[in-house]
Amino acid sequence: MNTITGLKGQSNQEIAHKLNELLANYEVYYQNLRGFHWNIKGSDFFVLHEKFEELYNAAQLSIDEVAERILTLGEKPLHTYTDFVAASSIKEYKDLSDSKSTVEALLESLRILISLEREILSMAGEANDEGTLALMSEYLAAQEKTVWMFASFLNK
Ligand SMILES: [Fe+2]
Repeated sequence: MNTITGLKGQSNQEIAHKLNELLANYEVYYQNLRGFHWNIKGSDFFVLHEKFEELYNAAQLSIDEVAERILTLGEKPLHTYTDFVAASSIKEYKDLSDSKSTVEALLESLRILISLEREILSMAGEANDEGTLALMSEYLAAQEKTVWMFASFLNK
């Protein structure tokens, strides 16, 4: 039993492990967005430069929330680049500079984050872990909206 959450140790641990996978993906996603923000070129520069910054700032907040949720559940958050890259399904994107490839990479990354968050949401639901569940709901709603906007941007 976790003395902070009052939840069963086993589900706490399983959820925390999955949250660490999410954390790793968020970190790679964050750094990719910084690269897109710096390297973007072309007629969409002003729009995307700013939009990518907005997204990496949001990601930075989520990263801290997820790490601290892992601690609240009694586990340790990953915190090194080596561990992040090893545990992340989102790959590192290097030298992307046009709007189509950056936005496609963003949409693929969001697809991965959304699917992981759904998995965690369902685990948290089964474990009555309302704290984790609420975080996932918040991320999912925001990211689904972002997907809609960027898919529209690509005319899809
Ligand atoms: Fe900047």
